[in-house]
Amino acid sequence: MKKRVFSGIKPSGSPQLGNYLGAIRRWAAEQDEYDNVFCIVDLHAITEYVEPAELKQYIREQTGMLIASGIDPDKSILFQQSHVHEHSELAWILNCYIPMGWMQRMTQYKEKVEEQKEQVSVGVFDYPSLMAADILLYDTDIVPVGDDQKQHVELTRDVAQRFNYIYGETFKLPEPVTGEVGARIMGLEDPTRKMSKSEGGSGQSIALLDSENVIRRKIMRATTDSQRDVVFDESRPGIFNLLTIYQTITGESRNDIENRFHGKGYGDFKKALGEVVVETLHQVQKRYAEITADPSYLESILKKGADKATPIAREKLAQVRERIGLG
Ligand code: TYM
Repeated sequence: MKKRVFSGIKPSGSPQLGNYLGAIRRWAAEQDEYDNVFCIVDLHAITEYVEPAELKQYIREQTGMLIASGIDPDKSILFQQSHVHEHSELAWILNCYIPMGWMQRMTQYKEKVEEQKEQVSVGVFDYPSLMAADILLYDTDIVPVGDDQKQHVELTRDVAQRFNYIYGETFKLPEPVTGEVGARIMGLEDPTRKMSKSEGGSGQSIALLDSENVIRRKIMRATTDSQRDVVFDESRPGIFNLLTIYQTITGESRNDIENRFHGKGYGDFKKALGEVVVETLHQVQKRYAEITADPSYLESILKKGADKATPIAREKLAQVRERIGLG
């Protein structure tokens, strides 16, 4: 029996290089080792306002990107969260077992409160409960994510444990797994903040669909410092981040990379990095264009995915309802 992997991506913007290196690429590379479920988490996306037409477009883009990156819908279940109603129902049930204090400690929530103050939606607050439902419905063993989602998976374990303690063994405890490198890709303009979809149009993020020229230009303009040596030095966040991107894509060791650029300056390194990123994304973009040429293809994939996910989710939810006394 293969272990079950579950992971998700939020269609709240165009996918960016951090999503690809921290998550999507790893999902695709490890696909044959596991029994996989990948979810386009549209209900998470609406925790902050998205134009309806854009939301539809982002759902298509994320689905297309996952397939273009190597997720094979015949091997892995790929579906849209809102198509499987059990996610919402389990999220509500889990709400009743999660203390406010746990939620208030979530870093992502605290960041949103900083920005939005009292206007922050209840959905943003409750986000981790829905994420726990996503994971727990599928008896997940492993949740491959970037660094920023680890805390949410820890909360998932905590609520699963609490539920199991009260009602007896019901949920499997999932493990968050991050990549050794690339788990936190930072922005190009401000390397002290992570790269994110919400800044897709700026020089901060590289969108997976950016053209060759745009990618090269963004990298050439990336913030560095006034030094010269191309070395992995964490006290120089700009060059450190660019080197990390290079390392994640090429899989080379830090030593080999430093030796290769010994005696060269930031400009030479940035050019080489531009080449590597363009080459990697070129493959993905080519495949994306083929997939999206047929407008009904992605819809049919998501429909089939929901048909496969629903019976698994339904069975787990029935068990939960029975345990609680709702069954
Ligand atoms: P999302 O859509 O923000 O990101 C998708 C995946 O990409 C990773 N990621 C990054 N990795 C490295 N560097 C970055 N700069 C970077 N930015 C994003 C994320 O860690 C994530 O793995 N809440 C989740 C979606 C979700 C989910 C789930 C994930 C909903 N339910 C259940 C796992 C399991 C999110 O917003 O991901």
